[in-house]
Amino acid sequence: MKTIHNSQIIKQKVLLRVDLNVPIKNGVVIDKTRIFSIQSTVNYLRSQDNKIFLLSHFGRPKGQFNKEHSLQFLCEILADCLQVKEVHFISSIDNFEIIAKQSLMQSGDICLLENIRFYKGEEKNDLHFAKTIAENFDVYVNDAFSVSHRNHASVTGITKYLPSFAGYSFVKEIENLDQLLKNQVKPKTAIIGGSKISSKLLLLHNLIEIFDTVILGGAMANTFLLAQGYNLGRSIVEKDMIVDALKILDKSKELKTKIILPIDLVCSKEINNPLKINLVNIDSIKSEDMALDIGENTVKLINKFLQNSKMILWNGPLGAFEHSPFDRGTNKVAVIIKNIKSSQNILTIAGGGDTIAAIKKSKVENGFTYISTAGGAFLEWLEGKESPGVKALKENNLS
Ligand code: 3PG
Repeated sequence: MKTIHNSQIIKQKVLLRVDLNVPIKNGVVIDKTRIFSIQSTVNYLRSQDNKIFLLSHFGRPKGQFNKEHSLQFLCEILADCLQVKEVHFISSIDNFEIIAKQSLMQSGDICLLENIRFYKGEEKNDLHFAKTIAENFDVYVNDAFSVSHRNHASVTGITKYLPSFAGYSFVKEIENLDQLLKNQVKPKTAIIGGSKISSKLLLLHNLIEIFDTVILGGAMANTFLLAQGYNLGRSIVEKDMIVDALKILDKSKELKTKIILPIDLVCSKEINNPLKINLVNIDSIKSEDMALDIGENTVKLINKFLQNSKMILWNGPLGAFEHSPFDRGTNKVAVIIKNIKSSQNILTIAGGGDTIAAIKKSKVENGFTYISTAGGAFLEWLEGKESPGVKALKENNLS
């Protein structure tokens, strides 16, 4: 794969695929990690006197313009984060508009293009659409690993028409995720939380082949406990995944991978009004209660495994962490990882949307060697799937 690090990209019109699909609350960007992640690539390209055109999707507007999904509002925020005077904007990918803007721009200037998912050709990976965009640029750089699992025109199609390179954060993502899969240190521990087995089935199958211990938490663990015959009361469970849960437990036995499930749980009747909270062993959940967090003894058990680990992967919160006090288990495990990282300096990698939010909430960002900005792409890579975006860059031999 060609990277900007091992290539000479000087005084070019560079189309830079980024992921500006940032989380918004009441019109405010609540997490700018994805914006800051493109800083090194942008700085490098500016230092080489290139004109930079940022191309991104935002939300899922399904091939139609709508104001709510316009990227224009990000220009000022981008200028601020990237420490430049101005970020230009083009409201369409119309060739005339792009060419007119290019002639106005100076070397090192940055221009943001409108949401590429306003065009039907994007998600269909329409090659004519990709070619028409490519005609206006000299070089394509992908710094959006988090969308590399999509076979879309701006991710794969465009690489058929332009010399294509991976940006710094794209390369960093792959290097770190590959450490999890390929580094031979032992023992390796994965902590997987979240609500559904169904969305992490392939991930679990792959991880039990690679990791020595897989710790499960969150509502996903409820389904495993249900499969083992425990009464889960009114807890979230996926009854139709019981057979799959049993298959994973059987396969882990064959592979001699330890699967660690909660041994006690924090339960309540209500998630939003937790007047009465019961900390119970897994065999004593009341039929009117819901399991909403892991208990103290489970945290101690997890701690025991983490203390002996040489590498830790974390994906998914271990309870209903958005609703205090059900964030306690997740926060405690986050702090344990942070302390292990600072005392033993082992590799600790986290990823997935909710995981980043949980890490931020517990203020333990410095407890991780690497925090992936990718959600779906992170999971698919760890599932062992081939990434269309990475494949497209590897196959590109245009110069
Ligand atoms: C993400 O937020 O995970 C990426 O931007 C991909 O978005 P998508 O799931 O809408 O393709």
